[in-house]
Amino acid sequence: MEQTKFLLDESQIPRRWYNVAADMPNAPRPVLHPGTGEPVGPDDLAPLFPMELIGQEVSEEAEVAIPEEVLDIYRLWRPTPLYRAYRLEQAAATRSRIFYKYEGVSPPGSHKPNTAVAQAFYNKREGRTRLSTETGAGQWGSALAFACKLIGLECKVYMVRISYDQKPFRRSMIETWGAEIVASPSTDTQCGRAILDEFPDTPGSLGIAISEAVEDAAGRDDTSYSLGSVLNHVLLHQTIIGQEALAQMELAGAFPDVVIGCVGGGSNFAGLAFPFIREKIAGREIDVLACEPEACPTLTRGLYAYDFGDTSKLTPLVPMHTLGHDFVPAPIHAGGLRYHGVAPLISQLVNDELIRAEAYLQSDIFASAVRFASTEGIIPAPESAHAIHGALEVARAADEAGEERTILFNLSGHGHFDMAAYDNYFSGKLEDVALDEAEIDRALRAIDGLPTPA
Ligand SMILES: Cc1ncc(COP(=O)(O)O)c(C=O)c1O
Repeated sequence: MEQTKFLLDESQIPRRWYNVAADMPNAPRPVLHPGTGEPVGPDDLAPLFPMELIGQEVSEEAEVAIPEEVLDIYRLWRPTPLYRAYRLEQAAATRSRIFYKYEGVSPPGSHKPNTAVAQAFYNKREGRTRLSTETGAGQWGSALAFACKLIGLECKVYMVRISYDQKPFRRSMIETWGAEIVASPSTDTQCGRAILDEFPDTPGSLGIAISEAVEDAAGRDDTSYSLGSVLNHVLLHQTIIGQEALAQMELAGAFPDVVIGCVGGGSNFAGLAFPFIREKIAGREIDVLACEPEACPTLTRGLYAYDFGDTSKLTPLVPMHTLGHDFVPAPIHAGGLRYHGVAPLISQLVNDELIRAEAYLQSDIFASAVRFASTEGIIPAPESAHAIHGALEVARAADEAGEERTILFNLSGHGHFDMAAYDNYFSGKLEDVALDEAEIDRALRAIDGLPTPA
């Protein structure tokens, strides 16, 4: 074994985010106003977001400078390490080389604060005093609570009911950083009350929690809405991951043939992949693989269509792969991957065949997670374990074909608050949920009558 960790100095933290929209062969379709069917403008978004983020959402600049104040907070955990997974390679008996970028070293334990800090900063600078948001697994909610505490904003988190029950310590973390948290659907909003009336036992979903957080922000002048994934500006902020990884792969004297990440709304995947897609568009050969759950197979089995980002249809219409805005995914343990849609930038890149996608069953995910923990030591978040499984599948296929690949994946977070999920796996209680076609057909009826992307 040679060098295991590839580390950058604090002075090497990238000072700009990378905007893939500047280089894409086809720009994503515009986001539409559901009332008029016209592209949304800054005025439509101003009640929810600060102007700087609205500007980043539509920016065509290839690079956006990272404010000094944001860099100062990034220094608490960035640059994050890049590892060569020698022990995993040995256990898998693969001829391929496997590298991973580890985002779990941030205080909340995932990639999410890369954008949380930036969003809190711009909101504060434009005079907002409070943010509302949704959270699935609790990683995003804790990242935003952390960022708001450091920047000096109030924060209200609507946490998907199933995760709220499964992950009491994520709740405690969010409260430790001073945010208010409720289970979603909640009685604090009109849409929450309406859903509870109809489905009192619902496990909740990210789509529902987004509706509640948007309603909260739209109803108060002091409050902005903050989204942890999907939007262009969120993916932009995450590209610090891939830029660091490019420099670290160079330190390792290697370049990836395959770049892999798990996809919920798409932010950690984009964060690692987009700077490599820049290289791919410039002519390098790279296979870029997005990994998702079979229980919520947005990219592999969803339709590319205009759909609402939330269940109660409060958001604009987003051009994306979708399973339908009222689709409630089965309560699998990768809570952060239970979202009916995906980032429009990723959808467009899938349409343009610059990214491909695969879907996996949760028992296979946990087998790979345990194999990773047993060799590399880190206990991965169930979401991140999709990327581990993807990497092992790519290595296996290469071995079978007699090939040798250099594989890089994003380990988006640790699983220290997911141990109940591991317990279920060890006691054989984990259910494999593969979605049947009839349920997809039913859920997609929700988008009948909405505009279709040209
Ligand atoms: C550790 C981790 N990885 C991945 C995700 C999925 O989100 P995204 O696709 O935006 O990276 C989440 C979401 O909560 C997460 O907590």
